[in-house]
Amino acid sequence: MILLIGGEKGGTGKTTLATNLAAKRALAGRDVLLIDTDMQGSANYWAQSRDESAAAPRRVACVQKFGKGLRAEVQDLASRYQDIVIDAGGRDSVELRAALVVAERAYIPIQPSQFDIWTLDRMDELVNGARGFNPNLRAWVVISRSSTNPSVSDAKDAADMLADFANLELAGAIVRDRIAYRKAAREGLCVDEMKPRDTKAAEEMQALYAEVFGE
Ligand SMILES: Nc1ncnc2c1ncn2[C@@H]1O[C@H](COP(=O)(O)OP(=O)(O)OP(=O)(O)O)[C@@H](O)[C@H]1O
Ligand SMILES: [Mg+2]
Repeated sequence: MILLIGGEKGGTGKTTLATNLAAKRALAGRDVLLIDTDMQGSANYWAQSRDESAAAPRRVACVQKFGKGLRAEVQDLASRYQDIVIDAGGRDSVELRAALVVAERAYIPIQPSQFDIWTLDRMDELVNGARGFNPNLRAWVVISRSSTNPSVSDAKDAADMLADFANLELAGAIVRDRIAYRKAAREGLCVDEMKPRDTKAAEEMQALYAEVFGE
């Protein structure tokens, strides 16, 4: 599976989702490669911390790739890894466009406060364009960093919003704003590996994982 976590907004949780999903895939015994296409290199730093962590039983291989050559590079690497998770930076970049052309699934995390038409409009167009070359591409918006307050109905607002976009679906899993994600990121871990374990974080990440990988 070639999975892209991307989007045009910064700070929505792309690297958080990419690293958690990659680590969970590795824990499941899969041969997974994380590709960091963001100059900030946060996914790469996460993988380095992971290599130094005693709490991480399986390493996640990570490479940084930039520029137009990404497409050919990913196609080549896809024959050597069972799964590829691409973390694309928060802007309309050549990397984001190249990744959309090779990915099977794209997940676009969006913070509830950022349910703005402009961002989704652009993503809808980018996915539409990429489908000309990659007809099997499917793209989902995933609500990320949502409030843990149960009275807030972000899912309903997002569903209404997405009805306008032909190329974007809404993921069923919702990722909420939880300290466990920030702590795990610093230590090169996924939320499953944190001690003490935040059960709610682990469950919602498992729900997303199951949706993405069909397990
Ligand atoms: N669900 C969450 N709960 C709490 N904190 C989160 C969550 N998701 C992300 N964060 C925190 O928010 C910040 C931005 O998250 P992250 O780096 O994953 O976003 P990003 O979309 O990759 O950003 P960029 O566009 O800069 O690459 C980080 O400090 C991260 O730990
Ligand atoms: Mg990032």
